[in-house]
Amino acid sequence: MQDIMQTSGNIQAGPIGVFDSGYGGLTILEGMRRALPDYDYLYLGDNARAPYGTRSFDVVYDFTLQAVEELFSRGCHLVILACNTASAKALRSIQQNVLPVKYPDHRVLGVIRPTVEEVGHVSRTGHLGLLATPGTVKSHSYMLEIEKLHPQMKLIETECPMWVPLIETGEAAGPGADYFVRKYIDATMQADPEIDTLLLGCTHYPILLPKIRKFVPSHVKVIAQGDIVGRSLADYLRRHPEMDRKCRRGGSVDYLTTESAETFNKFASLFTGHPVDATRITL
Ligand code: DGL
Repeated sequence: MQDIMQTSGNIQAGPIGVFDSGYGGLTILEGMRRALPDYDYLYLGDNARAPYGTRSFDVVYDFTLQAVEELFSRGCHLVILACNTASAKALRSIQQNVLPVKYPDHRVLGVIRPTVEEVGHVSRTGHLGLLATPGTVKSHSYMLEIEKLHPQMKLIETECPMWVPLIETGEAAGPGADYFVRKYIDATMQADPEIDTLLLGCTHYPILLPKIRKFVPSHVKVIAQGDIVGRSLADYLRRHPEMDRKCRRGGSVDYLTTESAETFNKFASLFTGHPVDATRITL
């Protein structure tokens, strides 16, 4: 007992791990830093294998687990899956099957539940549109959470398979992006004209916001997840002081990518508005 207490007392605090298939999680990281600027963060983008949205359940699970274990091995005790596809396809299995056996003192959290908790308070008509990757839509994770938390709401789910590739290839602001941005918005609004709230259920999509706003009717609100996840993480750390103590404070951010660091730095700085100096790793 004595030994166990000493060991846990000696645990070194580490950065909060933030994982995404590529650049999208940066929109969540920025929201987390707005809510909790004093903490240290370690971001990992699996850019070499993005996009995840069209990959099978098993592959997304394997890739996500590799990334989570990498972040644990680099000192993170808490990892946020800043990716809806990974949250939809891997979070539950990691939480239920991996953590209790291999990492009982570590935690992995996702982005879907906190988003659904908040979205119920935004819509007036109770009609929502979800724009997400094919993987997230096919998992129906949003539908299931909405049925649980806001059963009176109606949800239209639209797959947007072209949006992440546009972002990962640096075409988000290009003129070619307009066609595909408009296509999925129009399809959603036509499926249910009473929709007054569109939820961006993929962490990449805020990068397309200038284009998205151009094609969304003016009375429709567009919800991005960054600040929602930031607020939810702050609340989680308040309720879990034992984990809060394991999250290091220093206000630093380090970036890891599985693709070229040079390319990552270039695009990541465009999306975050500040310089980024990433390190390339292999998983
Ligand atoms: N940013 C991710 C999400 O929130 C993943 C996109 C992808 O890799 O397809 O779903």
